[in-house]
Amino acid sequence: MKIVSTIPEMRTSSRAAHSRATRIGLVPTMGALHEGHLSLVRAARSTSDQVVASIFVNPTQFGPNEDFSRYPRNLKEDCALLEREGVDIVFAPLVEEMYPAGADATWVVVEAMSNRLCGRSRPGHFRGVTTVVSKLFHIVEPDLAFFGQKDAAQVAIIRRMVRDLNMPVTIEVCPIVREADGLALSSRNAYLSAPERKRALTLYRSLLRARAIFDQGERETGKLVAAAKTEFVGEPAVRLDYFEIVDPHTLEPEPMIRKRALAAVAAFVGTTRLIDNILLEP
Ligand code: PAJ
Repeated sequence: MKIVSTIPEMRTSSRAAHSRATRIGLVPTMGALHEGHLSLVRAARSTSDQVVASIFVNPTQFGPNEDFSRYPRNLKEDCALLEREGVDIVFAPLVEEMYPAGADATWVVVEAMSNRLCGRSRPGHFRGVTTVVSKLFHIVEPDLAFFGQKDAAQVAIIRRMVRDLNMPVTIEVCPIVREADGLALSSRNAYLSAPERKRALTLYRSLLRARAIFDQGERETGKLVAAAKTEFVGEPAVRLDYFEIVDPHTLEPEPMIRKRALAAVAAFVGTTRLIDNILLEP
């Protein structure tokens, strides 16, 4: 496994791979890897000739009061995991390599969607994501790129960006990997104390409650959301950010569910912001 930290070296490597007609699969990550990330790597491994995993804690997708500086970073451990999974190249640039001229001039923005779900409470977040993912696509030139359904809004926005800007890459989406009790794996789970870890299940429970009522035939979003929100009553240490049911492609709110819908939740457990979602299939 090769570890590459500069853009020219990454580009030279990809161009050489393409000249051998190799299909490159890219797994973009911010590191602090867990089984959720590794599931994407395995999907990439099974469908690509060469797997590139990027590790870059992208400053432009963090707000000024968010956890950019304390976000977990352990490149050595991450590389060991990736090597075991048969990754060919780890692209791990420094911030100065990715943003040598600063990061306040050129942005890729999916305007119609960037203020939905997490975009409402994290202004500028999705603009940072789409900008860095565009950069990674230009640098690595993957044929396939792998993302997790865990970040459902991110998936919808990236798909729209790829479509609108004719990016020559196929987006593959992998299911959410959960702990045995249902908690969605996240690098941010490392911030949780033992009592917070227990309370963190409130998010998944709220999604299951919505699904239970949906399965009994309820199609009115307002009623499903109200039922889901009751899970947060009596959990004062868990502060709900949003619980919404939206179209999974446009992220527009759906008053009545007639086709596949995305139920998405975000909440603060202590100071840690967690997200989760499920699809509701009529
Ligand atoms: P990060 O949070 O490190 O996640 C990298 C990828 O792993 C994302 O596609 C995410 O959806 C996926 N992932 C995380 N937890 C998962 C889980 N429990 N099950 C399945 N997949 C999971 O998402 C980002 O980084 C960044 O925004 C990035 C796309 C790298 C741009 O900076």
